[in-house]
Amino acid sequence: MSAVHALQSPKKKKKKKRCLIFILFDYVTKRTGLIVKGIPVEFPISSPEIITEQILKAVTSKTKLVFIDHITSPTALIFPVKEIVFKPQQKGIYCFVDGAHAPGGISLDIEDKGAAYYTGNCHKWMCIPKGKFYT
Ligand SMILES: Cc1ncc(COP(=O)(O)O)c(C=O)c1O
Repeated sequence: MSAVHALQSPKKKKKKKRCLIFILFDYVTKRTGLIVKGIPVEFPISSPEIITEQILKAVTSKTKLVFIDHITSPTALIFPVKEIVFKPQQKGIYCFVDGAHAPGGISLDIEDKGAAYYTGNCHKWMCIPKGKFYT
């Protein structure tokens, strides 16, 4: 048994791959003391209005930034971005849209969405090396 073990390469601890967004959130919260509040979007979802309602319900006078995906990764839900960003931005709360999956999934008019910030990486759908993004 021990001879077999000796021939095996040492078990490498698998590093859990973390999405860059969460690394960024950690960085910002540590530096600024801001709190990131995740808003679960509950199923079943029968209309885009339900998503808008669930997200806007969580926006309070303490909210500084609303950060949403345009198309979610695990569920491929297309968020009604235009409707979600409208109210908060009228109150001066900027919205940031992560469009990582949008260019590959839908036709996209970024300006039409009206978000203060809209960006996405290019390695998912444009076959470009990591580190490049569009905005
Ligand atoms: C919506 C969205 N944004 C950002 C990312 C981050 O991708 P990466 O960490 O590969 O840049 C993902 C990953 O799947 C994603 O689904």
